[in-house]
Amino acid sequence: MHKDIEKILVDEQSVLERTKELANQINSDYAHVDNIMIVSILKGAFMFTSDLVKRLNVPHIVDFMALSTYGAESKASGEVRVIMDLRHPVQNQHVLIVEDILDTGLTLQFLERILQTRNVASLKKCVLAQKEGKENNLINIDYLGFTIPDVWVVGCGLDYADKHRTLPYIGELKPSVYL
Ligand code: XMP
Ligand code: MG
Repeated sequence: MHKDIEKILVDEQSVLERTKELANQINSDYAHVDNIMIVSILKGAFMFTSDLVKRLNVPHIVDFMALSTYGAESKASGEVRVIMDLRHPVQNQHVLIVEDILDTGLTLQFLERILQTRNVASLKKCVLAQKEGKENNLINIDYLGFTIPDVWVVGCGLDYADKHRTLPYIGELKPSVYL
């Protein structure tokens, strides 16, 4: 385990198994559509997206969007900006947002509003992890990987100041690293 990690909350095997289950669920839910537009939110969702789309057997296109909420800090500023928009138009498309983590829900709510204005055919959300006690009403998640404690986590795409993003597990960051 990395020295900056307090403990492993979800190990690599569990992440992969749960991701497979979510992919199976998506395969059956979208069995009737001719294409899913996967909207992966950079940078955090890139690893989860990669594990997930490998297991999709319904036709899909992967596109990326970059949003910024936190900068290098572990506290919500409440401000969301689009850093990079999609390459593909999403009008009349079945859009599935893939995101790393849900905290307050502000980021996803913001994104949902933007995409709705583009007249999508349908819009669902797939999120790797949601923080416990934050099961707020801002957002409902269609496909959720894990509910985790309300601590700062890294790995599986999640980072602290861009560090520890590629750890293969979801780990709690030692508070001494960011306090
Ligand atoms: P909101 O509050 O908008 O936050 O739901 C979601 C965004 O905040 C980032 N976030 C985290 N990133 N470890 C991270 O690496 C965390 O523990 C964490 N909590 C929130 C994340 O970028 C997400 O898009
Ligand atoms: Mg981040």
